[in-house]
Parts: sequence; structure tokens; C-alpha cells
Amino acid sequence: MAYPRAPMKVSIIGTGYVGLVAAAVFADYGNDVVCADIDAQKIAALSRGEVPIYEPGLDALVAHNLEAGRLRFTHDNGVAAAHGDVIFMAVGTPPRATDGAADLTYLLRAAVAVAQGLQRPAIIVNKSTVPVGTAERVTRVMSEHTDQPIVVASNPEFLKEGSAVDDFMHPDRVVIGTSDERARGVLRRLYQPFCRTNDRMIFMDARSAELTKYASNAYLATRVSFINDIANLADAVGADVELVRRGMGADPRIGPKFLYPGVGYGGSCFPKDTRALITTAREHGLPLDIVAAAERINESQKLVLVRKVRRHFGDDLPGKTLALWGLSFKPNTDDVREAPALQIVHTLLADGVKVRVHDPVAGANFMAILGDHQGSVTLVEDPYEAATGAHALLLVTEWREFRSPDFERLRALMAEPVLFDGRNQWDRGHVESLGFAYTGIGR
Ligand SMILES: NC(=O)c1ccc[n+]([C@@H]2O[C@H](COP(=O)([O-])OP(=O)(O)OC[C@H]3O[C@@H](n4cnc5c(N)ncnc54)[C@H](O)[C@@H]3O)[C@@H](O)[C@H]2O)c1
Repeated sequence: MAYPRAPMKVSIIGTGYVGLVAAAVFADYGNDVVCADIDAQKIAALSRGEVPIYEPGLDALVAHNLEAGRLRFTHDNGVAAAHGDVIFMAVGTPPRATDGAADLTYLLRAAVAVAQGLQRPAIIVNKSTVPVGTAERVTRVMSEHTDQPIVVASNPEFLKEGSAVDDFMHPDRVVIGTSDERARGVLRRLYQPFCRTNDRMIFMDARSAELTKYASNAYLATRVSFINDIANLADAVGADVELVRRGMGADPRIGPKFLYPGVGYGGSCFPKDTRALITTAREHGLPLDIVAAAERINESQKLVLVRKVRRHFGDDLPGKTLALWGLSFKPNTDDVREAPALQIVHTLLADGVKVRVHDPVAGANFMAILGDHQGSVTLVEDPYEAATGAHALLLVTEWREFRSPDFERLRALMAEPVLFDGRNQWDRGHVESLGFAYTGIGR
């Protein structure tokens, strides 16, 4: 694809889900992009056109732009610093073990390396999710290591894993946090091609932009926990939460999105961002009760299926074999960070259950993160093989291929016809007519 505009020199630090997608898309829109990472293996693979993560459409985009010479990879942050007029920071900001605050070690380390490599004035853009005040902090740290004039702006990223390329190309909004007029102009020019039909750029100061990202994720997490709480109440009072959510979502003030009951949210963003926001609020003497409750509810909800399994099997649970479908924290990604499946499997193992698992793409990542427990879990390539001999099947992540399986085949393969539908994907009437015992969430 070619877009008629002057190319810009763009550098991206970090080739994870955010950095790599941003780099490939900026290159595809005609910019001259250099992408850096400290992980030498990743850079070697990417330079050969091998994409180390699963993200629909990303392989082709990387290959195409490598070939066209618009996208290059380097192991040296200094090379990226010397290249870009605009330098995006897209490194990880994981939760600090002590208090859940965002760990800025990677970001500040990258900032120092970039500052040391600068050869002319540059606009530095924090795309990583960072606490309020980080743009100012990065400015101070970088200024200690360079004499070049810099502006540090905030440009939080809202893409979703599983549809990251499409989200980046068609953003709902582009939030740009800087009061510097020149930086605003440059970033407007860079993002203009993504906002041709509608001006989706929202300019603000850096602190407001930083808070916008956390507030957005905290709000979405709160909606998920709200409907999960209502689902548990529906279970208790004999209502069907699927009807309740449809009835609620029809109100335009509420809307239908993000009101799906399930086994809780996971991933690399919601859990860490809610915790980081709570920590920031506490530092300012505010309890942020709603977000704290959302987090508490979510921790409990991750084990809702286990509680249902325990209730079903009672004292007979130890020694049973259970099959799990879906390991990634949501469909269409291989990301298993904070995935509910992890806690479910750990708890079932502690209950003396034998566990067979299947996922279309996340199996290897899941086994790697299980560490010492790997030996107790059987990873199976085929979903039906995973269910073979199982006393129950748990649907944990609603990949499309799990939505309408061959239930008669399952019925024949399983040791007992028992389904725990952690995502309310299956029709109770249909599966019960085939002889299954069915348990959903809030139904
Ligand atoms: N994953 C998402 O869906 C998503 C969405 C929006 C925002 N974010 C935010 O974007 C940031 C990046 O997230 P991600 O999921 O892409 O992370 P990731 O863990 O997938 O990738 C981070 C990359 O940064 C590299 N890195 C670390 N230190 C470095 C350094 N000093 N120099 C160069 N590279 C370095 C790592 O090797 C890694 O490849 C985080 O702050 C995250 O919260 C993520």
C-alpha cells in the first residue's frame, strides 16, 4: 500500500505487541522506520522476517515492509536514537512485585540509551503505559545524558491484542499529550493518514494523556467485574445473566460492549494497569474504591469455574481428568500473561486433578509459564484429543473454533458428559438434549 505523503524518520524502542505493530504500520504508511530491542534473539529473528508473536496480519506486514526497505531492526538503541526525528518508547512497564506500581526500570534504561545516542533534536514519545508524571521524569533523566533539545510527549496506545494491526490502522482516537506546539504538529502529521475520514486526534497535556490510558483500562475492567458480579447474583437468585446483559445493553447509555460474563479478565494490561492506578491513587490519599473492588472481584472470578467443578464432583474430584479449551487470556492471541487459565490449572492440580489442555496457538507459551508444574499438565494439539477420557470439559477462552464443536463426537470421547462453559458460548438446551450436564456463568 502506498500513501501520498512525505515519509518521516521514525524510531521505535521495544518490539513487543505494541512496538512491533506500531513499527510495521508506520512503515506501511510510507515512513522510514527503525525498530530496536535489547533482545538480540528477537532482533535476529525479525531481521529474517520471522515474527516471534502471534498477531493476525502482522507477519505479512513485517515481511512486506522489510522487503520494501522501510522497516529495519537493530539491537542497538543508539542506532535507533540517531535515526528518528520521532522516537517512540514502547518497552514493557510490568507491575513492581512490592506494590503493583508500574516498574519503570526498562523505560528509564531505554531513555538513557536513547539520550546517549541522540545526534540532533528529537521528539520522544512515551507509548508505553506509564504513571502520571512520567513524561516529566523521562525529560529529566534524558537531559542528564544529552545536550540535544528534546520534547517528551505522551501518546498512550489503545490497541487490542488479537486485532492490533487493524486497531492501529483504524484508531478510535489518538491521544497526544504535550503542550509543545511543534511536537503536536509533527505527531499530527504522522497520524493524519490514520484519521482521514474523521479527526480522531485529541490533544492534551502529558499528565492528562497518561491518566486517560489508565482511566480507560480501569473503566473497562470495572465493566467486566460488574457483569461478573451480577452473573454470580443471577446464579444465586435463579436469573439468566445472558438475558440481563442484553436487557441492560440495549440502553444506549449503557451499551452492549464489555458486558460479557466469564472467568475474569487477564492479559498484560488490565490487571497491571488497575493495580498501578490504585497505587497512584493511594499515594495521593485516595482509595479509588470502585477500581479496587473491580480488581478484588476479578481475582475471585478467575476461580469461578473451579468452584463450580468442586460443587459438581464433591469428594470425588481428586483423580478425575479435566480438559481445558483455551489458554490465552482471550482469543486470537498467544499472550498468556495473567490468563485465568493459569490460576484454574494451578488450583485444579492442587485439588489432585489430572489436566489436559489445548489452545490453537498459546500452548507453548502456557507450558513455559507453568514452570515446575509443566510435568503435571498434558498439552494436546487437537481439541477432541484433549477431551478424550475427560470427566469434564472446561471452556476457558472462547476461540472461534470452540463455539460450535461436534458435541456428539465429544459425548462419545469423554469419560463423563460434563461441560463447564466459562464464556457462556454453548446453548444449554442443545447440549442437555445430547445428554450433557451443563454449567455456565450466571445462567
Ligand atoms: N500489549 C498490549 O495489548 C498493550 C496495549 C496498550 C498498551 N500497552 C503498553 O505498551 C507497553 C509495551 O507492551 P507490550 O505488550 O508491547 O510489551 P512486550 O513485553 O510484548 O514487549 C516489550 C519489549 O521491550 C523490550 N525492551 C525492554 N527493555 C528494553 C530496552 N531498554 N531497550 C529496548 N527494548 C527493550 C523487550 O525486550 C520486549 O521485546 C507496556 O507499557 C504496555 O502496558 C500494551
